[in-house]
Amino acid sequence: MKNLILIIAIIVISQRMIAQRANKIAFGPYIQQMSTKDVTLSWSTLEGESIIIDPLGKKDTIREYQQHQIHLANLKPNTSYSYDVLNDGSDEGKGVLTTFPDKIIPFNFVAIGDSRNRHDVHAKIVKKMMEKNPRFVVNSGDLVANGRSIGDWEAFFKVNKEMMKNTPYYPVLGNHEKDSPYYYDFFDLPNNERYYYFTVGDALFIVLDSEGIQIDEPNYISDANSDTFWQKAFSEYFDTQKKWLEKVLELNNEAGFIFVFQHKPLYSVKKSRVEESIMTRKFWGDIFERHGVQVFLNGHDHHYHHAMANGVHFITAAGAGAPLYKVDAPQPETIKYKEIEHFVNVEVNEKNAVLHVIDIDGNEFDTITVKRRDTK
Ligand SMILES: [Fe+2]
Repeated sequence: MKNLILIIAIIVISQRMIAQRANKIAFGPYIQQMSTKDVTLSWSTLEGESIIIDPLGKKDTIREYQQHQIHLANLKPNTSYSYDVLNDGSDEGKGVLTTFPDKIIPFNFVAIGDSRNRHDVHAKIVKKMMEKNPRFVVNSGDLVANGRSIGDWEAFFKVNKEMMKNTPYYPVLGNHEKDSPYYYDFFDLPNNERYYYFTVGDALFIVLDSEGIQIDEPNYISDANSDTFWQKAFSEYFDTQKKWLEKVLELNNEAGFIFVFQHKPLYSVKKSRVEESIMTRKFWGDIFERHGVQVFLNGHDHHYHHAMANGVHFITAAGAGAPLYKVDAPQPETIKYKEIEHFVNVEVNEKNAVLHVIDIDGNEFDTITVKRRDTK
């Protein structure tokens, strides 16, 4: 009898341990580095809690997470696989991944930006995005309000949990990411993780970094030397990125479609940011039109804006959660704008890419059709 009780106790304990282990998945699982044959599955577990007490005695609890990754290889192109990163009988670790196609076939993806801090808005947008069943999602930066706050990432992964377990997610660095170590821990991205590219069929997707490595201007730098300080601090980083972009565009000159993503706009319609966008444009020069880039998608200005210049569509799609901005400086290149929460569902087929701009209620309020590049 004593032995029987002991056996039952062991079973109960082991089940509790399994349950605890299952509940420990804090973020994920989610899908990264998708290709035609490889993928990375990531998830985080809760490891413990730390506290911080301010001078007034106010206590704050900060949770500590451990990141896990597995890399799967030798998969078949354009094929769905069920996976379970826990394999413990619970649904916690389950999802479905679908590899990218190795042929030119129709597919769709979703672009959003600035999900940041209105989590109810972000959640509604994500729900509408999921109805489109995208192959992948690109978020053009400011995923969270403060990249160095673990609480903000907790909220981000909570909102995206259902979508990210089945849909690869490609982030772009925004100013609110603050070049945070959390960003690089949570996301497994190509190249140096700051700027990178990937392909689907013969469509090329390039992610740029408009932010650079985070440094603070020391207090002793005088106003007179401030511009010089920042120019020297960043020139090498951005020149290197520009050379990299030139090479990527040359290497991929037979791509049928080229989409470029960056956080900061080249055409701002927010008065206080117009000057900065002109400087950004000057920096990149004619690189996009020279290489036949069709669409440049950015965030940062929290509204929708479509401009066209030298054959390139410049689209600000930054309505996934941050407070909306008023458009107070339409530019000569402006075609359309709207101060509204939204996302862009892009359908790519053999002839065209059609950008469906959809508001938070599911209404399409702009449609842009882009022809396949002439690569002959
Ligand atoms: Fe921003």
